[in-house]
Amino acid sequence: MSRSIVSWLAVAVSVATAAAAVADPGCQTAAPQQHTINVHATQMNMTDPPFGIVYAREDIAFVGAGLKVDMINTANFRPALAREIALPESLTGPAGSGTDGAASGLALSHDKRYVYASIGPGAAIIDVEKAIAGDAKPVVGSLIGTTGVSAIQVTISPDDDYVFVTQEYGTNATRNRGTIEVFQVHRSFNGSVYGTNKGYATLGYAVVGTGLSRDGSMMYATSEVTAQSTSPNETQGTLSVLDVATLKTNPAQALLRSVDAGCSPVRLTLSPDGKHVWVTARLSNKLLAFSTAKLDSDHPNDALEASVQVGTSPVGVAIANNGRHIITADSDRFDYANATTGLTVVDTEAALRGAQGFPQIPTGLFPREFAVSPDGKTLLVSQYQSRAIQAVNLTELS
Ligand SMILES: *[C@@H]1O[C@H](CO)[C@@H](O)[C@H](O)[C@H]1NC(C)=O
Ligand SMILES: *[C@@H]1O[C@H](CO)[C@@H](O)[C@H](O)[C@H]1NC(C)=O
Ligand SMILES: *[C@@H]1O[C@H](CO)[C@@H](O)[C@H](O)[C@H]1NC(C)=O
Ligand SMILES: *[C@@H]1O[C@H](CO)[C@@H](O)[C@H](O)[C@H]1NC(C)=O
Ligand SMILES: *[C@@H]1O[C@H](CO)[C@@H](O)[C@H](O)[C@H]1NC(C)=O
Ligand SMILES: *[C@@H]1O[C@H](CO)[C@@H](O)[C@H](O)[C@H]1NC(C)=O
Repeated sequence: MSRSIVSWLAVAVSVATAAAAVADPGCQTAAPQQHTINVHATQMNMTDPPFGIVYAREDIAFVGAGLKVDMINTANFRPALAREIALPESLTGPAGSGTDGAASGLALSHDKRYVYASIGPGAAIIDVEKAIAGDAKPVVGSLIGTTGVSAIQVTISPDDDYVFVTQEYGTNATRNRGTIEVFQVHRSFNGSVYGTNKGYATLGYAVVGTGLSRDGSMMYATSEVTAQSTSPNETQGTLSVLDVATLKTNPAQALLRSVDAGCSPVRLTLSPDGKHVWVTARLSNKLLAFSTAKLDSDHPNDALEASVQVGTSPVGVAIANNGRHIITADSDRFDYANATTGLTVVDTEAALRGAQGFPQIPTGLFPREFAVSPDGKTLLVSQYQSRAIQAVNLTELS
């Protein structure tokens, strides 16, 4: 072996060691103060607290809002309510029953025909064209699972044939560990859509965020607290990797591995190039970047490649400007002393080089989830506690 190759190897090893040396983020209550940046923003007030939000097309978005989904017109920068879509009692629980099911995470099918809204025991399926046409019955199906009434996020397979719903708290049968329930969906000639429940995978406590690898073969999921904890009040959370082919046929066997992911990790998103899973660790006030290649290797515990200080209690996470920026919804949902809410704008390349000190865009109370418009120019923010949808001009950041 020539000397130059040896020295090149030595460099490669030190780079690999450096990459693996991102410190465990630990826990943190209020985040340090950040610089504020102002971009043009506006907002629409709502009657119910908005949760998940998704664009169906440039001029139409859907928002989970209590026991219904609101359709909003986004043709103008300031969004406007277009119609309210009531969800069936099979999902909301009978009126007055006290079921705390509310529409939470939303997702659009890849063919853009259906919006899935997670709620209570599963998810409602809304036919986008029927909703826009004013059809009296735009809800064309319901997915009803077996592991609880705390559905929180929904992820759809690239071929739109499978739908994965996280049940945050599980049931006694799962010893209160959260699950991912799997449904195979079928479209009927009469326009209805129904799902066959294929079972579930059990993860840690408080299972929330899910996302698929670029090729759809792996699913990533957060648990706020590890499955091995003795109480749901512990703080060490995990990022799990599941094999999607197994998830479709035998979900209970689909979990491949889990790695530490800071304190109370909640949402995640994949980078456009598929190389990183970005996770909000809510009780660390960090945005964490995990290498998908390393997560899928024999050294998953080396996968943490960046730990970025953001604002207090980050929840939602969005990719903006084609991956140049990542934005977190710093919710301050636990009202810590000396904490503010905001939207931290992280420069992706700088963050992967270890940079810190990113600025915040001001927002309302408890910013929770995001949607980026199909043209990439507008970010919608659900402000859960302010009961408003904020629109932010992303073009000013690029
Ligand atoms: C929206 O709500 C905020 C705070 O409650 C209020 O100040 C504002 O005037 C409202 N805007 C509209 C257009 O109703
Ligand atoms: C779940 O377990 C708790 C505590 O053991 C018990 O009180 C409750 O009745 C159980 N619920 C169901 C639905 O079995
Ligand atoms: C639509 O077809 C499915 C079976 O494919 C059936 O179960 C359902 O009742 C039908 N719905 C209506 C409204 O006819
Ligand atoms: C977890 O925390 C809650 C709220 O502080 C408390 O009521 C509960 O007893 C705790 N549970 C355990 C198992 O420690
Ligand atoms: C809040 O900030 C003030 C001023 O910096 C400081 O004196 C106080 O100790 C802080 N409170 C907490 C709970 O950190
Ligand atoms: C958004 O920002 C761009 C670039 O500064 C500007 O051209 C555009 O008018 C802005 N749009 C709104 C609605 O503020």
